[in-house]
Amino acid sequence: MQIKSAVFHMSARDIQAAPEWDRPEFAFIGRSNVGKSSMINMLSNKDALAKVSATPGKTQLLNFFIMNEAWSLVDLPGYGYAKVAKSEKINFNESVGDYLEQRDNLRIVFVLIDSRLAPQPIDVSFVSWLSGCQVPFALVFTKADKQSPGKTKATIAEFLAAIGGDVAVNPPVIISSSKNRTGRVEILKLIEAALKV
Ligand code: GTP
Ligand code: MG
Repeated sequence: MQIKSAVFHMSARDIQAAPEWDRPEFAFIGRSNVGKSSMINMLSNKDALAKVSATPGKTQLLNFFIMNEAWSLVDLPGYGYAKVAKSEKINFNESVGDYLEQRDNLRIVFVLIDSRLAPQPIDVSFVSWLSGCQVPFALVFTKADKQSPGKTKATIAEFLAAIGGDVAVNPPVIISSSKNRTGRVEILKLIEAALKV
């Protein structure tokens, strides 16, 4: 799939303030600093569409981008930073929890995980919580350019083993580097397939 246009639409504090449209949405979530905003820029072919920062916690709102004038990418605040969700003992932003649980036009959640790290408890709990929601999700292992392919594969195997007991479904797994544009085609293929349904 070609990306012909990518435009920032709006930021919303919560789902109530989110755009009232039925455009299919694809959201990016993960720990602060994992590379969500960089990935949106990589997919868009634009360096500065979503704000990237070396300081964790840069993205604080739900940011909506319109792609090819038809569907939307959503850059979510990273977890591990904001308030604890009321209903769950997981430290992620409450408005993110509402969005993931309630947004009808959300088609796929891309959960970004740092490919350099051993399974982090917050990622494991988040994925097991998400697997109890209705929405399909994929796991994206980021920053693969920073280490050998063998090390990335080992991290993925460890992570899948860590979630194994909690997650019934087998989510798609993608290796990515926003620096080298690795994983771009695979992510766009998943989006394209979901748009056809
Ligand atoms: P928050 O908005 O704070 O939650 O962070 P984020 O997940 O949006 O991360 P962001 O895209 O801002 O990237 C954080 C840092 O990691 C920046 O310094 C990026 O340049 C760097 N980074 C992101 N993706 C990659 C990647 O694939 N490879 C490398 N080498 N660096 C990356
Ligand atoms: Mg960000």
